[in-house]
Formats: sequence, structure tokens, C-alpha cells
Amino acid sequence: MKVLENHSLKKLNTFGIDAAAKYFVEFASIDNIKEILSERKFSTCNKLILGGGSNLLFTKNFDGIVLKNELKGIELLKEDADFYYVRTAAGEVWHEFVMHCIKNNYAGLENLSLIPGNVGASPMQNIGAYGAEIKDHFYELEAFHIGDKTIRTFNNSQCKFGYRESVFKRELKDQFIITSVTFKLLKNPKFNTSYGAIEKELEAMNIKEVNIQAISKAVCNIRRSKLPNPAEIGNAGSFFKNPEVVKGKYEFLKINYPTIVGYELENGNVKLAAGWLIEQSGWKGKTFGDAGVHKLQALVLVNYGNAKGNEIFDLSQKILESVKEKFGIELEREVNII
Ligand code: FAD
Ligand code: EPU
Repeated sequence: MKVLENHSLKKLNTFGIDAAAKYFVEFASIDNIKEILSERKFSTCNKLILGGGSNLLFTKNFDGIVLKNELKGIELLKEDADFYYVRTAAGEVWHEFVMHCIKNNYAGLENLSLIPGNVGASPMQNIGAYGAEIKDHFYELEAFHIGDKTIRTFNNSQCKFGYRESVFKRELKDQFIITSVTFKLLKNPKFNTSYGAIEKELEAMNIKEVNIQAISKAVCNIRRSKLPNPAEIGNAGSFFKNPEVVKGKYEFLKINYPTIVGYELENGNVKLAAGWLIEQSGWKGKTFGDAGVHKLQALVLVNYGNAKGNEIFDLSQKILESVKEKFGIELEREVNII
């Protein structure tokens, strides 16, 4: 294992921000982690666990050690009459893992196809898309405690999953390195095609009999048509969360803004489309140097080349303030600001 100094992170974050890590190391085993942390210099400095870098915005160089996760391996742990229990190392690429599941007819993750990043980050914000979230099929995870250097297991309820939330973003922030995640996947698929344009896309694909392969393909097609590909335009997906408001607030807004987009939740509140709020505040397609708001999806901030992290951050702050002024709603950033 080689610890690199002043290492560029430009190719390691999907925003393509030119930041550097004071120290940088890749780990491929738990022994590797222990070895690095046994050095006082590294055990005492700031640490950042890096997966695919697709949910981060670097606003400055990282003054500490970046630990890049390269833990690999997928294993069918056990099966019973209804489920497959599949454990995957945290450094596996999420979409490749989903493809592995689909190939083996392990059902449940197909709606989450093509989300960038690694498996290890998926529980951090309980990744979700097209009517599914990982918590629906999550069994348990293992994580290395940076302080006492032991491995702990967390079951579904211990992770305290919510919408783009988990205990690892809150009470246990920066304390653990997630090393593996086990999913409980279905032997008999339950197709979930009601969300967004999935059914329309399946029809366009001329699918007569739905299966998990077709759903995955439909989701990939929709995502490719809507979201910028980070290989072409730097971005980290949705920059803000979709805000939840009480129904009264939604109905009040609807009087002045009849086209406002909102989805009623089980708790009676309404989830508003932040993309709509940002578009109506006049930001869609705007550019400021190389920083901008995507022209097809106002929830996605982009780097057209050489934007600095703090230029993107400043743009997000202006958006936040203008949405607050127009609608009285405070957006919350979804991307992790470093
Ligand atoms: P990173 O960006 O590397 O890290 C994210 C955070 O997790 C950081 O705080 C990091 O320190 C921490 N972390 C990473 N790995 C570990 C670990 N092993 N242990 C402890 N902490 C860790 N997200 C969705 O939920 N739904 C979507 O539909 C979606 N669409 C996207 C589309 C695009 C085009 C892009 C660019 C992003 C999208 N995202 C989406 C966001 C992103 O893909 C997810 O958040 C993903 O899980 C991030 O994975 P990563 O490995 O890149 O994490
Ligand atoms: N909309 C606009 N203008 C825009 C963008 C969106 O009016 O510029 C409105 C449209 O009415 C559209 C609605 O908002 O129908 C919802 O848009 P979309 O289907 O693109 O989804 P989203 O709410 O913007 C969320 C997630 C995405 C996830 C998709 C699909 C959040 C913060 N974002 O986006 O996740 O892929 O739904 O399920 O919840 C991510 O987290 O990075 C991410 C991309």
C-alpha cells in the first residue's frame, strides 16, 4: 500500500472538481485499513472515505487522508424458500452489482439500476429512484469502527433509514467505514412499474411480459434521457432533496401556483419537486462561468469544465435563497459538501 501525497482528486469525483488530498491511499482489505490507521499521523488526521465520488462536492483541498475503497467480492450467503441473501463488498460498483443480481434472477434492485457510485455508499443516504430505496431490500451491513478498530453489524432498523438519510449521516457521522452490505432479494419478483415513465417506456420497448431485465432496461433508458452523464458533464445528480411540506402549505401554494408538482405521502404531508421550484425561480439552464444549472433538470448543478467547488456551492446558496424568498421553502442540500 502506497500513501500518495498531494494527490489530485479531479478524476475521482464526478463533479470533476480539481481538488487534492494531502494524503491518499487505496485499501483492499480490512487489514489494509488497520495498517494505515496504526500510523499515528493517519489515525489523528481528518479522514474521508471515498467510493465513486458521485455524491461529493469538494470546495477546498482535503487536509487529511482520503481512503479509497477497493474492497471487492460478491457472495450468495444463503437462501431460503423466498429469499437470496447476497453479500457484496463495499468497493463493488453499484450498477455492476445490480447487473449481477439481474443476471442471477435475484429480484428487488432493478428499479435502482444505473445509480452511480459504490455499494458502500448506498446505505449512507439510502439511495433511491423510480419508486424504490435500498432499505426495501437491505438485510445488514458490516462496518469498521475507526475509533476502536472493531467490526460492527447493523441491521435495517439500526441504520435508521429515511429519505436520503441514515444514521451514518447523522449520529454516527465519520465514525465508520462500511465494508460490506447484505441484501435480501426476492425469488419471486414483485414488479414495481407504477412510478414515473416506467410503464410508458416498457410499452415503447414493446415488452409484452414484464421481467426484472426489462424494468432495469426501461429505468436505464429513462435515466439516460433525463440526467447528464458525468463522463461528459460534471455533476453529482440531484443537488438538493425534494422538500416535504404539510398539506396545508401545499394547498396554499397551489392557489398562486396551480401547476406546482407534489406527491402525497403516507403521513399526509406532500413531497414537492425541488426541480420545479428551482425552474420556476428562473434558474434552469443558467450558467455562471463553468458552473451551471442543467438545462433539462434544474435539480442538477453542473460543471461544464473548470468550475471551482466553491463556485458551485455559491450557486447552490443563491438558488436556496431565491427558492426561500419565492416559495418560503428552505431546500436542503443532498450532496455532501467537503
Ligand atoms: P461518494 O460520493 O464517494 O461518497 C458519498 C458519501 O459517502 C461521502 O460522505 C463518503 O465519505 C461516504 N462514503 C462512501 N463510501 C463509504 C463507506 N464505504 N463507508 C463510509 N462512508 C462512505 N443517488 C440516489 O440516491 N438516487 C439517484 O437516482 C441518484 N442518481 C444520480 C445520478 C447521477 C448522474 C449522479 C452523478 C449521482 C446520482 N446519485 C443518486 C448520487 C450518488 O450516485 C449516490 O449517492 C451514491 O450512493 C454515491 O456513491 P459513491 O460511491 O460515489 O459515494
Ligand atoms: N421538474 C420540473 N423541472 C425540472 C425538473 C423536474 O418541473 O427542471 C418536475 C417535473 O414535473 C418532474 C418532477 O419534477 O416530473 C420530478 O422530476 P424527476 O422525475 O426528474 O425526479 P426528481 O424528483 O427531480 C428524484 C430523485 C432522483 C431520482 C429520480 C427518479 C431526489 C432529490 N432526486 O428526482 O435522484 O433519480 O427522482 O426517482 O429525490 C439523486 O438523488 O441524485 C437523484 C438523481
